[in-house]
This record gives sequence, structure tokens and C-alpha cells, in this order.
Amino acid sequence: MPTKSVFPTKIYIEQLEHYRKLNKGLLHDIEILSQKDLEGIAWSKQHYQGGYTSYSSITDLHERFPDFIELRKAIDKHVKKYARSLNWDLMGRKLHMTVSWVSMMPKSTYHTMHTHPLSVISGTYYIDIPKGSSALKLEDPKMPFLMNAPPRKANAKAEEQNYLHIPAKNGQLVLFESWMRHEVPPQPVSNNRVSFSFNYEWF
Ligand code: NI
Repeated sequence: MPTKSVFPTKIYIEQLEHYRKLNKGLLHDIEILSQKDLEGIAWSKQHYQGGYTSYSSITDLHERFPDFIELRKAIDKHVKKYARSLNWDLMGRKLHMTVSWVSMMPKSTYHTMHTHPLSVISGTYYIDIPKGSSALKLEDPKMPFLMNAPPRKANAKAEEQNYLHIPAKNGQLVLFESWMRHEVPPQPVSNNRVSFSFNYEWF
């Protein structure tokens, strides 16, 4: 077939080493936050049905708490590798984790489709993922331009569909470019799906 794939969309999926001990500490911290972060609890009640997120209240976890600082250092290494694979010329500047937050999603809590403006790399790290939890759903960035194109066949390869579902897994890190639209569909099981999300900026 004389076709060639062009303009690749690269995402990065990797399991962190020695994640069990780290996740235990992180989960403990998050349980405390979800009880003491009154501003975040109030915000979550309004905007994050049933769940808890520190998205609007504490966004510097990666600079504040030892477990999160350790996690940030581990993620930094993978972000470097990802940037290399994207062939980015950083022109002497660096990539920095600028914002981070945690999300605790019980049954039916969800995140609708969104991007992370002004950042360059975004991602999620999975801390406590009960069996049957929601996947991360990425949207084909060409979606707004497809106009009258026919749909893809149901049996096309996962990476050739218009949506890619990445199953959430304890200890797994997922990185993508911040312009990529993504969502987390409603959590189908009752136990909390616990994750850490973040943005990197370039300066
Ligand atoms: Ni997001």
C-alpha cells in the first residue's frame, strides 16, 4: 500500500518503578487532604459531583509534600524522555511542572472533554485504581477538521480510531501534549479512582 503515516501524535505510557510504597504514602496524603482541604471540598461539591479534587485549592502539591516531591522528580525524568522523542528543541529553556492536583472519583464522577491551555505537556499518574475503573479517553486531534469524512471501521486498530481509551493502572504514568482533548468518563464502580494530574510549562 503506497501510504505513509505523517504528523504522528505521540503519547507516552510508562510504569513507574517501585511505585507500591510511593502510592501508599500518596494515598495517605490524599485521604488527609480530602478531609482537611475545606476550600477544595466546597469547590468539588459544586463542580466535581460526588468526588474530591484539589484542582482549585492546592495546586503546588509537587513542591509542598515529600511524597509528591518524590513523585515529581520521577515524572521529570519521563518528561525529558518524552520531549526528546518529540524532537523538541528546548532552546536552552527547561520544562517545569507548574501545577498539580489530585482527583478522587467515586462512582459516577467524571471529567468532560478538555485541554490544558498554556502548558506544553500534561499527564496523569495513577495512585489507586479499583478494578473496572474508567479509562482515560483521548480524542483524535484531527476531529474538528474531519467534516464529511466517513466513520472509521469498528475493527480498525485502536490507534487509528477517533478515540483512544487508555486503561488506568496503578503506578502508570501517561503523558500527552497539552492541546490534546481528553476526558474521564463516569467512574462505573463504587470504589474511588485516585490519580494525580499535572501540567508542564516551558521557560
Ligand atoms: Ni485534563
